[in-house]
Amino acid sequence: ARLWGLVPAAGIGHRFGGERPKQYQLLADGRSLLEASVQALLEGAELSGVMVALSEPDPFWPDQAIADDDRVMHCAGGAERAHSVYQGLVALLDQGAEAADWVLVHDAARPGLSAEALQRLIAQCRESGEGAILALPVRDTLKRGDGNGRITATLSREDLWQAQTPQMFPLGALKQALEEALSGSSLPTDEAAAMEAAGGPVQLVMGEPGNLKVTYPEDLAFL
Ligand code: C5P
Repeated sequence: ARLWGLVPAAGIGHRFGGERPKQYQLLADGRSLLEASVQALLEGAELSGVMVALSEPDPFWPDQAIADDDRVMHCAGGAERAHSVYQGLVALLDQGAEAADWVLVHDAARPGLSAEALQRLIAQCRESGEGAILALPVRDTLKRGDGNGRITATLSREDLWQAQTPQMFPLGALKQALEEALSGSSLPTDEAAAMEAAGGPVQLVMGEPGNLKVTYPEDLAFL
């Protein structure tokens, strides 16, 4: 089975602010978050291609160096992340991908993914035949708030993980799970959630702190 990349990049990043959408903010080396996230996939694994789901219109895309890379394709995203990923899977099938192929879904805002972590994830999926995600064990003590700044409970962090991306699944199984999720009342915030709801096994593979999701402008200082 072949391996494809899929990068949902159709969000506007309102938590980040600014006139450039978050995925087009620049790193110190001059690359955009999107470009660096796509390159992390291409450099860390042997992929048949990467599909990038974009909002329409997207005036920033044509200026990206990866837009001219033969291995990189793009399609229209949707209203929410789950729609964008679903559209990306449909576009990959249009480009010759098959249901039995593997797909790595990776955030456009995680430029710090290392080849080591990516290879760990791929090896685990290929060996087991099951889907998996990169994730980190929760380090901090977790508190539940009452909505007014007071603690109502302390949660055990035992067995709690923070989900990262990439998230790797058989393409057909993920498409099926997203179809079910999109017809429901609340949308999954990551691909694993759709697979879990569909009853599929999803494994946890050790991620890394450097693979953080850029959410606020301050986060750029950590990369
Ligand atoms: O906003 P957040 O950082 O959670 O978005 C995660 C990823 O999903 C980003 O790469 C964003 O561009 C993407 N996304 C998308 N389509 C949407 C909303 C978000 O592709 N409608």
